[in-house]
Amino acid sequence: MKLRFDAAQMQTPHPYRLKITDVEPDIAILTRTSWSVATPFDLMTSRLRMRPLTSDDETAFHKIAGQRSIARMLVNLEHPLSFDAAVKWQRQRRFTGRLGFMVGIFDRQNTLIGAIGLGGLSTALVYFLAESARGKGYGTEAVRAFLEYTQARFALTKTFAGVFTDNPGSRKILEGCGFQVLTTSTFQSPARDTPDAIWEMEWHRKGFEPI
Ligand SMILES: CC(C)(COP(=O)(O)OP(=O)(O)OC[C@H]1O[C@@H](n2cnc3c(N)ncnc32)[C@H](O)[C@@H]1OP(=O)(O)O)[C@@H](O)C(=O)NCCC(=O)NCCS
Repeated sequence: MKLRFDAAQMQTPHPYRLKITDVEPDIAILTRTSWSVATPFDLMTSRLRMRPLTSDDETAFHKIAGQRSIARMLVNLEHPLSFDAAVKWQRQRRFTGRLGFMVGIFDRQNTLIGAIGLGGLSTALVYFLAESARGKGYGTEAVRAFLEYTQARFALTKTFAGVFTDNPGSRKILEGCGFQVLTTSTFQSPARDTPDAIWEMEWHRKGFEPI
């Protein structure tokens, strides 16, 4: 693209206005990352919607994320959880078009019932539902749709999840999505008194399995 100053414009009240006189075709490159940064996250399933949380969701988010049954299954959520800590946790994971984010899970009534996200470097998957929303298949519905969508959007070749061995329901959800248990290790959840066993589970895109 060539630009030149238009001398006539120099005398106007806007002396530095540029006039584009000669525009050569430029190659506009839309990378996956620039597309993703510009494209909002809004995912619908038959019963659920997944979209970024806003400040209007903070109270509901705190109420859910503060449940001990959730913190026990996560490794990085403190318990008890203050309102400020919940807001900070949520804001640190705000969706910016890149990996390392969390979005809210909403039901048909637009009530926040949980959250789901993917970490940055390790692309670890994290999700949880309010106690009142469990046992209805929402977990399976949300995780399956979220993984399908994010794996395509971010061209993921692998995804990781750590599941405490007293959480067979979560393992079942992940196995249904193609995850496999790689190994068992121990981890300390802030909401547990002692380190406990965890299944390290991974999903690999076909053709990208470890050899
Ligand atoms: C994990 C969680 C999201 C599951 O949500 P959910 O909506 O209740 O899950 P679903 O209703 O889709 O059930 C999942 C499957 O697990 C099964 N399941 C549930 N509890 C189980 C148990 N104790 N043992 C064996 N299977 C179990 C269900 O029967 C269902 O199987 P099906 O599809 O064959 O019927 C929810 O329990 C939760 O938020 N837990 C706390 C946070 C958490 O564990 N996050 C995951 C960290 S890895």
